[in-house]
Amino acid sequence: MKIIIAKDYNDMSQKAAQQIMSQVTFKEDSILGLATGSSPLGTYKKLIEFYQAGLIDFSKATSFNLDEYLGVPPDNPQSYRFFMEDNLLNHINIPKERTFVPNGMATDVQKECDSYEEQIKSYGGVDLQLLGIGHNGHVGFNEPSTYFTPPTHQITLKEETIRANARFFNSIEEVPTQAVTMGIQTIMSARKVLLVASGKEKAGTIQKTLQGKIDPQVPASILQLHPDCTFILDPEAASLLK
Ligand code: F6R
Repeated sequence: MKIIIAKDYNDMSQKAAQQIMSQVTFKEDSILGLATGSSPLGTYKKLIEFYQAGLIDFSKATSFNLDEYLGVPPDNPQSYRFFMEDNLLNHINIPKERTFVPNGMATDVQKECDSYEEQIKSYGGVDLQLLGIGHNGHVGFNEPSTYFTPPTHQITLKEETIRANARFFNSIEEVPTQAVTMGIQTIMSARKVLLVASGKEKAGTIQKTLQGKIDPQVPASILQLHPDCTFILDPEAASLLK
C-alpha cells in the first residue's frame, strides 16, 4: 500500500493522470478500470490535456467502468455512460467499441452482471483500476455490508449514497436506488489499483480505510490487502491519518 499526499486537488489529479499515462505508455493495450463522480474528474481533464499534447495514445486501450444506475438509459445525462463520454471518452482516441459500462437498461440484470464479468475476463482482466471512495467507504457501489461482495452484481444503494449523489440530480427523488457494480472481488482482481480522494469530509473514511481493521462495513478497507494499491490524497483527505 502506497500513500501519496498531493499538494491539492489539482496536484492529486496530475499525479493520478501521470500514473495512468505511464500504464498506457508501457502497455499500450492496457485494460483500464474507470470510475465516475467528482474525485476522478480532474484526472480525466489532465488525461485529455496529455492526449491533446500528444503525450498519450489510447488507440489500443480498453476501458471498463465500475458501475451504472439501473433504469437510466445511456443517452440520459445522469447515466454513467453519458458521464464517461462527456468527461473523457469522447475527447480521447480510445475506440468506442472498447469502452464498456454496465447496461443500466438490461431486462435480465443477473445475465448482464455475469456477461460483464465474463467480458472483463475475456480481455485478460483489469490492468489499472481507478477508484473514488464514498463517504461510507464504498468503492464502485459496493456498500457497507456483512461480507465483501462477489463479482459484478445488482445492489440497492444506501440512503447516505442516495443523499450524496442527489447533488447531480434536480431532487433526491430522482436518484436511482438500484445499480449494477463490479464487486469487491472484481476490484481486488485488478493488477494495480489507484484511489483518489480529496476534501475533509473524506478524512474519517480514509483514516478507517487505511488504518482501521479490514471490515466489510468499510468496503475499501480490503484494499489494505491488495498487492499494488496506491492512494493519492489531498492534504484534507489525509488530515486524520496517524
Ligand atoms: C463512481 C463510484 C463511486 C464514487 C464515490 C465517490 O463510479 O464508483 O464509488 O467513486 O461515490 O464519489 P465522489 O468522487 O463524487 O465523491
